Amino acid sequence: MYCKTILCAIFVLCVPVTMSSDRPHIVLIMVDDLGWNDVSFHGSDQIPTPNIDALAYNGIILNQHYSQPLCTPSRSALVTGTYPIRIGLNGKPLIAAQPASLPAIKIMPEYFKDLGYTTHLIGKWHLGYERWNSTPTYRGFDSFFGFYNGFTSYYDYLSTWKLNNKSHSGFDLRKGIDPAWEFVGQYATDVFTDHGVKLIEKHDPNEPLFMLMSHLAVHAGNDGKLLEAPQETINKFKHISDSNRRTYAAMVSKLDDSVGTIVETLDKKGMLQNSIIVFVSDNGAPTIGIFQNWGSNYPLRGIKGTLFEGGVRTVAFVWSPLLVQSQRVSNELIHITDWLPTLYSAAGGDISALDPNIDGLDQWSSLVYDLSSPRTDMLININDVERTAALRFHNWKLVLGTPIDPSFDDHIGDSGKEVLFAVGYNTSAVYQCRAARSIEKVSFSITAAEDYSILRDQATLKCADHRGKANPCDLSGGDVCLYDILRDPCEENNLSKYFPNVVRSMKRALVEYKSGAVPLVNQNSDIEKADPKLFQYTWNPWLDCADATCRA
Ligand SMILES: *[C@@H]1O[C@H](CO)[C@@H](O)[C@H](O)[C@H]1NC(C)=O
Ligand SMILES: *[C@@H]1O[C@H](CO)[C@@H](O)[C@H](O)[C@H]1NC(C)=O
Ligand SMILES: *[C@@H]1O[C@H](CO)[C@@H](O)[C@H](O)[C@H]1NC(C)=O
Repeated sequence: MYCKTILCAIFVLCVPVTMSSDRPHIVLIMVDDLGWNDVSFHGSDQIPTPNIDALAYNGIILNQHYSQPLCTPSRSALVTGTYPIRIGLNGKPLIAAQPASLPAIKIMPEYFKDLGYTTHLIGKWHLGYERWNSTPTYRGFDSFFGFYNGFTSYYDYLSTWKLNNKSHSGFDLRKGIDPAWEFVGQYATDVFTDHGVKLIEKHDPNEPLFMLMSHLAVHAGNDGKLLEAPQETINKFKHISDSNRRTYAAMVSKLDDSVGTIVETLDKKGMLQNSIIVFVSDNGAPTIGIFQNWGSNYPLRGIKGTLFEGGVRTVAFVWSPLLVQSQRVSNELIHITDWLPTLYSAAGGDISALDPNIDGLDQWSSLVYDLSSPRTDMLININDVERTAALRFHNWKLVLGTPIDPSFDDHIGDSGKEVLFAVGYNTSAVYQCRAARSIEKVSFSITAAEDYSILRDQATLKCADHRGKANPCDLSGGDVCLYDILRDPCEENNLSKYFPNVVRSMKRALVEYKSGAVPLVNQNSDIEKADPKLFQYTWNPWLDCADATCRA
């Protein structure tokens, strides 16, 4: 009798999570090139992001979340759960017309389909399109609405590339496999949001939804109009003195509106109480150089493409009513490869079904119950072409190499503080925003407006304002630097002379990681065959076909 009762209890506890109708809806919002200091929950008043902040404060702010330093590597790590060195994607992002793509291994949407999910990709792919088989709807997404290359402009969806000394421009927006010309003239962030809203509205809430919302924002567009946003949104930022930064702020603000709209739609559809929302940036902001977007990684050092924290330590949080210990800031190590096993586990999947070679770790129970992270070390990247590498081990970070442009490794860019007049952080605006109103309905308790300041303070990094001068790391000699990231998040004090044993063991770990590396997939551009002119002025797969009428 006694046994029967226990079995019954176990049965009752277990059954709901294994029934497909009870699997949580997953909305993974990946943003592009967003700087550490471009969300207001990290301490800057300059660009208010009330919807993003409300979710972050009511979820878990992941303050030691690492991505890869560049777009393609980060996206490959996200969908495969594998360090990009193991699949040849640890180098430069894929350029247009490059006959290379993500290797044919099982990826995130395919795993979620196994669990009964409907899978959607909205926005950026950037994992190759040389053949139809490389494109999203052949890689596990039931639907795709977005672009293949690394960026487009925000209204015309053209992606322009200088290849073999000539400029090549092609249209890059598709619904499924068909060019979606009808959206020309509408703002990309709104267009992707509206599409997300329609998918949620059409979705049967009893079936699990997996949506990867992969924004173009806040990546810079084509030369000549790097930054674009609706004028009425730009006008909200009169307090920002730099006009480029003003436009950038508007782009971030549109992203914040998008988050509010998606949360509101999930609520209206009755899906929010069983949803997990993850928000991550693919890398830090490029504050100078190619695709400069006027973001701010302050107070972190380095920019997109570098292995310093400003390049790889990214804005991230997770929100869900399923998190038992939420409304907190986590300083546990978490890597972008961890989302595959973590979300698979959250969905009730058995992670032994995943490829045993993945590098990601299942962080779900650590997140839910505030346990320590299973991760004590991580490879940040190895790039043999640039001869750079970095890794974390507990509180330590080792950075090696000679970067392409040493000036990128400095503390550079806007501080997110310089304004014409102060605006102040409006906690009641956060408390009253659309995301907060929606999550209040499905949460046991919502973080009080007063507590926002406490969480915000915990999420704000504090560094002595040495700006790298204290004990600088000059990597140009091909040397190494060791930092204690917990005490020195701004990487100002190279400690390698004091901890030679740590340096030695981390170098050994690096050699071990390197033994798993494969050659880069990168190839020269195939622009003669892939020229958009041959494909009705679109970027189109070109190796199966010689013109735009060809289908997979
Ligand atoms: C591009 O132009 C440069 C300088 O004009 C020249 O040296 C180089 O060979 C050209 N490259 C190609 C691929 O045509
Ligand atoms: C703060 O936000 C609230 C709600 O949006 C608004 O009513 C109030 O005017 C704002 N306060 C300031 C000082 O801007
Ligand atoms: C870091 O410190 C070590 C030990 O003092 C020194 O040998 C090395 O040159 C420094 N690295 C850089 C790149 O400055």
